[in-house]
Amino acid sequence: MPGAIYAEGLVKTFGDVRALDGVDLDVPEGTVLGLLGPNGAGKTTAVRCLTTLLTPDSGRAVVAGIDVLKHPNEVRRSIGLSGQFAAVDEYLTGRENLQMVGQLYQMPARQAKARAAELLDRFSLSDAADRPSKTYSGGMRRRLDLAAALVVSPPVMFMDEPTTGLDPRNRQALWEVIQELVSGGTTLLLTTQYLEEADHLAHDICVIDHGRVIARGTSDQLKAQTGGERVEVVVHDRDRIAAATRILAGFGKGETTVDQHTRKLTVPVTGGAKLLAEVIRELDARGIEIDDIGLRRPTLDDVFISLTGHVAEAEGTNGANGTGADPAAAPAAGGRPAADPAPPDASPAPDAGDRHRKETGR
Ligand SMILES: Nc1ncnc2c1ncn2[C@@H]1O[C@H](COP(=O)(O)OP(=O)(O)O)[C@@H](O)[C@H]1O
Ligand SMILES: [Mg+2]
Repeated sequence: MPGAIYAEGLVKTFGDVRALDGVDLDVPEGTVLGLLGPNGAGKTTAVRCLTTLLTPDSGRAVVAGIDVLKHPNEVRRSIGLSGQFAAVDEYLTGRENLQMVGQLYQMPARQAKARAAELLDRFSLSDAADRPSKTYSGGMRRRLDLAAALVVSPPVMFMDEPTTGLDPRNRQALWEVIQELVSGGTTLLLTTQYLEEADHLAHDICVIDHGRVIARGTSDQLKAQTGGERVEVVVHDRDRIAAATRILAGFGKGETTVDQHTRKLTVPVTGGAKLLAEVIRELDARGIEIDDIGLRRPTLDDVFISLTGHVAEAEGTNGANGTGADPAAAPAAGGRPAADPAPPDASPAPDAGDRHRKETGR
């Protein structure tokens, strides 16, 4: 029996961009699927197809047991969606927006009021609760949008990059609310660019790139495939990089990547702190001076390097993108600026098509 969210062979093209190129998904009821991928991978397109906002060119989707293409209106009644872009009524206050959502879903007025107050508090919006939401900053609107999606708990929920632009405290609040919903039986598909987040929240992870699923599994399976942790070394002298690379190769479980510019070497390892100590001793014994060394968990980039042999390219002109935990450790994964996402009708980056053409040799 298919899960609460099921898709088979979803294809969606925009001109010559194949945003979705045959995506299959199956999310068992009451679980969380993390759809992980860089900017431009097709995450939003997948969410929009599954939530009836876009019609796929081909393929099949069933959500909450209802055929998405045949009965879109019924699907809409069974799902909740938090978009990547804020969708609140700007003339209403934050509180009114949330109460209105509750009432739309036939919540008794008292309960809608209580739930609104609770969410305003959890997303640090209490002080601004009674101002029209058009006076909110980008980050506040983002939080209000999330809160609006969480007023009721529909059987199936979709959240598109819910934590993009959230500060750590609000991210934590969101994670808690999500966990409550899921323990109440909600099935959730959430998209993210952060492996750490998928790791934290999702039972299963699906990695997509160029509209295709390139890996799927539990976070542990994915990490095993990705080769666990990384040792990262910044070599002091540029002319010792080659020597240091040879040493790291002896400890590594995969290829060592070298960034000549920052003199940073990265290699996947197993063995944790003990191995790190051995690496340090060996570098020291060979007289290789280091500026920095550390052990870190794999990032989305590491997943991409090990799955595809290349980093996830940024689409368009987005700035560098960190992991949140250690932005310096992550090379640009392609991300949007943290705050103030583009308006919903923003046209895609002009070079969006180029990226796909460039990559067709893969
Ligand atoms: N409405 C659209 N018109 C043209 N191209 C689009 C449109 N929406 C998305 N795309 C393109 O489809 C690809 C996937 O986009 P999207 O699903 O938004 O990726 P993600 O959410 O993973 O960042 C990108 O190349 C993007 O530029
Ligand atoms: Mg998106």
